[in-house]
Amino acid sequence: MDALPSFYDDLDGFRAEGWRRLAEGAGGRHSPFHTPALATVDAAGRPRLRTVVLRAAEARAGTLRFHCDRRSDKARELARGGHAALHVYDPRGKLQLRVEGRASLHHDDATADAAWAGSQAMSRVCYGLTPSPGTALDTGDAYRLPGEDAEARLSRENFCAVLLRAERLDLLYLDRRGHRRAVFSRDGEAWRGTWVAP
Ligand SMILES: Cc1cc2nc3c(=O)[nH]c(=O)nc-3n(C[C@H](O)[C@H](O)[C@H](O)COP(=O)(O)O)c2cc1C
Repeated sequence: MDALPSFYDDLDGFRAEGWRRLAEGAGGRHSPFHTPALATVDAAGRPRLRTVVLRAAEARAGTLRFHCDRRSDKARELARGGHAALHVYDPRGKLQLRVEGRASLHHDDATADAAWAGSQAMSRVCYGLTPSPGTALDTGDAYRLPGEDAEARLSRENFCAVLLRAERLDLLYLDRRGHRRAVFSRDGEAWRGTWVAP
């Protein structure tokens, strides 16, 4: 039987593992943590879910960053109060991570500029999509993406970096010898954690 992971009975280690995996996911597209599901709530209080690419995870600040089009449903939903959650399950690592927090949208500030500067040309063109994301089309191909250079300015206008300030983490590790689940909440700049029944 496999050795138990070092975080198995180590509460601080478990939280650190969560952030380590998030940072790894932000840095590499082969990790399941690279493409978490993002949950928002619509104006009627109904849940909405979609995949996003995780662009950054800062354990010290407790923040996550992803990018979206400011004309999208998710941007509108995040702008209304900012409540959001992320979910990842890594079947190989048998680790589920849930993050809940408040999101802030950055369109024309230093955070947005830095995120734009760090993004690749092929990612940038997505933000120049016409018509806007979610618009009904007569045929599946009745939309247009700009060239990488000519209309980059248009794409920048629609680009939005989203910072999710984590307020609650819920980690679940599955093991035949006994699952381990822990919940962590922000306590000022620190985190308060407890094991919970899985
Ligand atoms: C692998 C994958 C990665 C994606 N990454 C992003 C992303 O980083 N940002 C984004 O806005 N949409 C991303 N999408 C598209 C969204 O999942 C979604 O379909 C689209 O943004 C519309 O969502 P909305 O109507 O809720 O705004 C991704 C989809 C997939 C399948």
